[in-house]
Amino acid sequence: MLKTPDMLLLFFCLVGAVDALQKQWIPDTNYENKTNWDKGAVPCGNDIVQFPAQRTVSVFVETTHAVQEMRLPVDGELILNSGAGFYVVSGKDPGCGDGVTTQFRDLESLQWFNPALWQAAATLEDLQRGKFLFSVHEESVPCQYDDVVFKALSSFRVDASSSQSSIPVKSVSVLGKKFDSRSEFSQYLGSRSGQLQFQGSTVVTVGNQECGDPSGCDCGNSVNHQRICNTVTCGALSCKKPLLPVGHCCAVCGVIVTIHYAAGFNLQTYRERIHHLFLILPKYKSIQLGMSKVVKSQRLMGVIPFGASPEIQVVVVDGEKGSQSENLALDILKDARSHGSNLGINGAEFQASSGSSSDQSGGSAGMVVGVVFGVLIMITIIIVVVLVRKGVVQMPLSLPSLPSLPSLPSLISWKKRGDVGDVGGSVDHGFDNPIFDMPSMLPDIPGVYTAETKHSITMTQTGVHFINPVYDENETDFNV
Ligand SMILES: *[C@@H]1O[C@H](CO)[C@@H](O)[C@H](O)[C@H]1NC(C)=O
Repeated sequence: MLKTPDMLLLFFCLVGAVDALQKQWIPDTNYENKTNWDKGAVPCGNDIVQFPAQRTVSVFVETTHAVQEMRLPVDGELILNSGAGFYVVSGKDPGCGDGVTTQFRDLESLQWFNPALWQAAATLEDLQRGKFLFSVHEESVPCQYDDVVFKALSSFRVDASSSQSSIPVKSVSVLGKKFDSRSEFSQYLGSRSGQLQFQGSTVVTVGNQECGDPSGCDCGNSVNHQRICNTVTCGALSCKKPLLPVGHCCAVCGVIVTIHYAAGFNLQTYRERIHHLFLILPKYKSIQLGMSKVVKSQRLMGVIPFGASPEIQVVVVDGEKGSQSENLALDILKDARSHGSNLGINGAEFQASSGSSSDQSGGSAGMVVGVVFGVLIMITIIIVVVLVRKGVVQMPLSLPSLPSLPSLPSLISWKKRGDVGDVGGSVDHGFDNPIFDMPSMLPDIPGVYTAETKHSITMTQTGVHFINPVYDENETDFNV
């Protein structure tokens, strides 16, 4: 399976184009869709068909139907497929019950910015084959460089209201016709069908340029974040440390992998690669993986913003009680480490809702040493501060002795003996051993416990970087 990743890479480099997805609107107002009828069934020959008088609807009819009687709305349209139509049966239709009055559902306006009403795929073929992509809520709704698809044989009604004056997209396909010219589509919107299908104050405009950056583009829906999230209801979560992905409305249980990319990175290619290497494996079949470029603001000491850096966010969620998301994250990190230079990846790390993060994946001695040293340095600083503040140890006495604890073994032996006299010759037995103070002190000092420290280790191609955990307490503080 994994034996030809480079071949795959080459293949996808040739095929992989810029990152634009197909976003298909799911609901329809079709006559043949039984969910559109109040009795839950498509009316048959003994039934009286009724459309709400005051509702303007566009209804696509694919085939011929027998009816007893039909009451039409004041305004609206029936789009008849070729060969479609209605006829009245004389007498009783034997294949149809006693006959009821069935009403076309008074569909309330369905919102463009409702992520549940869209499905995404990389290509039109994937859409048809049902190979849908998972994405964060903001990107479930069409992005500015996406192709929007309304199913070929269907009618629909979408409410495109927003606070913006327009919704730019690359193209829109309606009833099998693809519009990518701005003027042509605005002409269509002015037509009878266009007015019935697209409602609301905001104008959908096509002809937006495609994403010219192979590493991906920002979706552009963050301006509509609130509107999008108003339509979403978040479920209850059971994991220890739920994660909030950028662009998502709800915290999730799973893993977020962050990819730091460089020149040569191609998001589309990489998405395909992860799919072909991992997602097709049976053990990962319940995994949902969403990959996108996001811009995270960088914060100094977790508070002061000092810039923004684009990176690739990979959200991995594994079903209800799935547990494979961390394994997949480890696989992705391993792949990024061994093929990073070919893929244009500088570094990768992950955070899991279980509380673990990428340092556990490494298992490299360098990283362990890094953690140990980081913790030692912190403890040393604390000891110095405590000793000096308690006035037990005076600066000239304590300073020479403390830096002479360069490695773990000496600390352990020091701790075991518990010989207070070792700290400094002049200390008497009333001295509080700072080591035993630790448990009560540590919680006050963020990032000193190893669990916290783990979040601040970054594994990159060039080596292991230890980031002072004090500056890193805001890891999980997403601002949305
Ligand atoms: C019928 O409509 C529902 C809701 O609009 C949609 O989810 C479903 O896919 C439609 N069925 C078909 C066969 O298109």
